[in-house]
Amino acid sequence: MLKVRQVSKVYEGKVSYRALSDINLTIEDNEFVGIMGPSGSGKTTLLNMIATIDEPTTGEILINGKDPHRLKKEKLAQFRRRELGFVFQDFNLLHTLTVEENMVLPLTLDGKKVSEMKKKAKEIAEKLGITEIMNKRTYEISGGQAQRAAVARAMIHTPKLLLADEPTGNLDSKSSKDVMEMLESINEKEKTTMLLVTHDPQAASYCNRVVFIRDGKFYSEIHRGDNRQAFFQKIIDTLSLMGGDSNDFSSVRV
Ligand SMILES: Nc1ncnc2c1ncn2[C@@H]1O[C@H](COP(=O)(O)OP(=O)(O)OP(=O)(O)O)[C@@H](O)[C@H]1O
Ligand SMILES: [Mg+2]
Repeated sequence: MLKVRQVSKVYEGKVSYRALSDINLTIEDNEFVGIMGPSGSGKTTLLNMIATIDEPTTGEILINGKDPHRLKKEKLAQFRRRELGFVFQDFNLLHTLTVEENMVLPLTLDGKKVSEMKKKAKEIAEKLGITEIMNKRTYEISGGQAQRAAVARAMIHTPKLLLADEPTGNLDSKSSKDVMEMLESINEKEKTTMLLVTHDPQAASYCNRVVFIRDGKFYSEIHRGDNRQAFFQKIIDTLSLMGGDSNDFSSVRV
């Protein structure tokens, strides 16, 4: 599904900064992978390059065997819209619109008929259990509901790969759990491959595998197995072994 090969990223500026060095990462179809690491370790940089928002300085990223970075602008926009889904920390919903209108936004870009869009939105809302908030505006719903709406929007094109950067970063523990359970069920039922960047060990414990990076380099990886509670403990242990700034533990929820 996804192959990251020897990827490095140097941000050029007055002083150039090496944010990632020789990262290799292979993600199989239907895997649910977490990326963890201290603040500034390069997690968002890596995700943005996979999301084709940014380009690697060296190395190669293949999504389903294709290198999206080689596509022309228009083809790239289409690729992004059809193959990838994105979820961010701050939901990125448009506030004057209803949840349903937010959800169909990506479809309007494809010039789909309104009736067709409404049908698709209804289908997804039912699957994801957010039918009751479809006609609410974004200021009338909770953070957890807003993030679930954002996940629903990301799923409107049934992307093969869903990328999420700190999707639970602004949520309380109950809402985090709701969002993570939603992602887990999408991963299982829709077979969507997922890549999740998070500081939160509880959120990361929903993944099949967690990859740790430190100072822009691969540090280690651990697999879940059957026991989520034991995996959660392993994640905490790895984080504390790895160190990082004290800030990183402020989001630990036990
Ligand atoms: N556009 C940019 N220009 C220059 N340096 C950047 C840029 N974006 C990120 N960096 C630097 O690259 C490093 C990695 O940043 P990145 O955002 O990937 O970290 P992160 O692991 O996502 O951190 P956090 O957990 O705080 O979100 C940081 O030192 C950051 O200051
Ligand atoms: Mg980040």
